Amino acid sequence: MRPELSSYTHLASGKVRDIYDVDESTLLMVVSDRISAYDYSLDPAIPDKGRVLTATSQFFFDAIDFPNHLAGPLDDERIPEAVLGRAMVVKKLDMLPFECVARGYLTGSGLKEYQADGTVCGIELPEGLVEASRLPEPIFTPATKAEQGEHDENVSFDAVVERLGRERAEELREATLRIYSEAAALAEAKGIILADTKFEFGLDDDGQLVLADEVLTPDSSRYWPAEGYQEDQVQPSFDKQYVRDWLAKESGWDGQSTPPQLPEEVVEATRARYVEAYERLSGKSFADFLG
Ligand SMILES: Nc1ncnc2c1ncn2[C@@H]1O[C@H](COP(=O)(O)OP(=O)(O)OP(=O)(O)O)[C@@H](O)[C@H]1O
Ligand SMILES: [Mg+2]
Repeated sequence: MRPELSSYTHLASGKVRDIYDVDESTLLMVVSDRISAYDYSLDPAIPDKGRVLTATSQFFFDAIDFPNHLAGPLDDERIPEAVLGRAMVVKKLDMLPFECVARGYLTGSGLKEYQADGTVCGIELPEGLVEASRLPEPIFTPATKAEQGEHDENVSFDAVVERLGRERAEELREATLRIYSEAAALAEAKGIILADTKFEFGLDDDGQLVLADEVLTPDSSRYWPAEGYQEDQVQPSFDKQYVRDWLAKESGWDGQSTPPQLPEEVVEATRARYVEAYERLSGKSFADFLG
């Protein structure tokens, strides 16, 4: 018999995920179907999004050669029936206080910083770069985690050194860039650009660096369709573009009040994009995914 979810202590909830305590050394990370766009939580949720994100994370944890926090399989007996397929049991780690971002392309907060002073997180970039430019090489652009409702704050590599020491900071940078490059190459072969992505790392009891949180999901990464990629233009998001376009162009929403309910066809098209991203990246069928 699987345990009830209510038998675990609820520790925290983010915008999308809920964290529970399993025992002294283990957590349960449950991914919901919630979706946000333009920093607003949207209604209704996207059916299967939690399972697709879980499948995506699992695929990359398996594909990437780096120690990770998984403490059991996706059908682990500690996972309650109610969340089977969208939950992972993970080792509790001592989390490092940085979001480890790798960027291969310039957009978002990176582009804003570059436009202000020609650098991103203290890294000088060549002149003449524009929206969606491919960078000469991928860069490590760490950020500190913001309080709820605030945006993460980009920091320099030196800020990481100051906090964690040079050796650990270099280890983080090296790991972040190596994992990004591996994943970006895999995505590129499937016609998908991994513009940037965010990792979180923690330390285990032996002080070993371990890859934690979710990895390389559409929620932690910017995926763009390679087809139609054009520098100097805001690229469509592989997963959320349908929702964004509908909200911005068709719904009549003012951009400030509670967003309107998503119509069924927008929900369905968005679900299909998440599934397509998973299937293309992994080469597997979502219909075969457990749960
Ligand atoms: N193996 C782990 N051990 C301990 N904490 C972890 C582990 N993996 C991830 N975490 C932490 O669990 C939390 C996951 O929360 P989640 O991402 O849902 O919410 P959030 O980061 O607070 O908000 P947001 O919705 O903005 O991401 C994060 O604080 C993350 O650092
Ligand atoms: Mg988070």
